[in-house]
Amino acid sequence: MIADGSQYHWLTAYTRGRMSGHQLDWAKQPAFFKDYQNVPSFTLPRPENLPQDSLFELVKKDFSTSKNANSSPNLDSVSYNLSLSDLASLFILTSAPTAKSTFSQGEIWYRSNASAGALHPLEFYVSFPGDADLPPGLYHYDLLKPALNRISRNPSSTVFNTAFDRSISATSADLKKDNLAPVLLISAIFFRTAWKYRERAYRYLLLDCGHALENMVLALRSMQIDFEIVLDFSDSCVNQSLNFDDQHEVCLAALRLRPFAADNSRKFPDELPAAETDVISGIPHADNFVAYPLLNEIHQATSVPLLNGSAENKHSVPLSRKFSDWHDIPCDPATTTIFLSYVESLSRRRSRRNFTANASSLKVETLYLLLNLLLQKNLSISGPQPEIAFCATGIEGLNDGLYLLDCSRRCFALLDSDTSPSALAAAALDQRWLAQAALQFIFFADLESAAEKYGPRSYRYLNLAAGRLGQRLYLGVTALNLGCCAVGAFYDRELAARCSLPENYDPLYLVALGPVAGK
Ligand SMILES: Cc1cc2nc3c(=O)[nH]c(=O)nc-3n(C[C@H](O)[C@H](O)[C@H](O)COP(=O)(O)O)c2cc1C
Repeated sequence: MIADGSQYHWLTAYTRGRMSGHQLDWAKQPAFFKDYQNVPSFTLPRPENLPQDSLFELVKKDFSTSKNANSSPNLDSVSYNLSLSDLASLFILTSAPTAKSTFSQGEIWYRSNASAGALHPLEFYVSFPGDADLPPGLYHYDLLKPALNRISRNPSSTVFNTAFDRSISATSADLKKDNLAPVLLISAIFFRTAWKYRERAYRYLLLDCGHALENMVLALRSMQIDFEIVLDFSDSCVNQSLNFDDQHEVCLAALRLRPFAADNSRKFPDELPAAETDVISGIPHADNFVAYPLLNEIHQATSVPLLNGSAENKHSVPLSRKFSDWHDIPCDPATTTIFLSYVESLSRRRSRRNFTANASSLKVETLYLLLNLLLQKNLSISGPQPEIAFCATGIEGLNDGLYLLDCSRRCFALLDSDTSPSALAAAALDQRWLAQAALQFIFFADLESAAEKYGPRSYRYLNLAAGRLGQRLYLGVTALNLGCCAVGAFYDRELAARCSLPENYDPLYLVALGPVAGK
């Protein structure tokens, strides 16, 4: 049995010359959509008045402006003011189909969230206390219709909240209050991604989930709804409440909405539904799937609660201490025009690889704008975060080279002036187009130290955060009319060496971006 993410990462590392070929078995191609048959379905209305915010403003927002900030909820006047149309906006902003391509083996629906190999392993659920348009229940989001399928009459919020607060002994008053809180859940179906990526798939499931989670967080921010991201919960309790067979499908992230004082509050049911286990099972995969036990092992190994991070660490000196010449990142860089709103960027986000580094160059102010998207105080969650480096080529006002970002101090320093984008492209399984990108962001972590400090669950936090930041970059780049493509396929140690990373650090994710041909 593997003990933590560092072992899993090592076991699933790609090494040049040691990769076995893998042909896709089309006879076993997993279904793209989970099927809940014969359940009540509630059509989601077409959202109106979608937010006009710019992404760059949205990520800066704290909740001092939100409806439910700083409220100390009084149980008699607690409200969430979430309607069916709010849910429609929320889900459509999280994951909506944006394009379709048809090929000989079937069709692919592209979505506002990126996904490794366009395999889209995620499913979305909401536990909802009920209002005039939508009865209480546990719902599955059907993104093609779009609709919410009621898979249980019981919202199960008490069970979820008990699973989330396993270290806190909730009073019955808290439970009653929490039972009114809508809970959003993101699950992943192992085989959808393992079909192509086999044992390495758990990395991609977490990164993919980070992309969708970030969309959900941005949607809630733009709707001014306060929330709490929950990544540390009792897996078995949550998976059972959703009636998952956890060998195939598992919950990876949840969001619980925070109450705010009722204004024009809707009437919620006085009586909470009795706890029942009546959740309908959906069919997550075709019968002839292939099992990859390593995926279940790493999920199991990382299912323990997150430690509070107070443990002494053997590598206690942060990487950034080794450098001295730091450039500050201005909060409000004087920049070029921002072309698209956040919602427009969502609907137009696609992976683009036709970089033209030589044809036009980026200004350093554009880089500052993008770096502002990565500053971690806006991730709305504590716990381990990945380190970030970026390789810059041909940026006006900045020397070429590899830089280390220090998010907490809002600055960056030159790591290596000789790092070449071609060497990074070679380390990324020779994906040559990468060398033409003006910027390559590398997310990396000391996985052993993170596990020592925060426990094995840190592996999920780090990869989810890398995925979230990757989604922010995609959206920011789309707003600026540039191109972006994420890269999860690389020779792990070769990439670490090309980025001059100390031996204890592993790359998690790479995101390339810059000017592209054909706007
Ligand atoms: C976790 C992850 C890893 C990815 N790895 C690669 C990669 O190594 N090479 C590549 O060309 N694209 C990669 N992509 C981009 C996906 O192929 C792309 O998101 C997918 O085909 C869907 O297309 P879209 O982004 O245009 O919607 C990756 C995307 C994600 C989210």
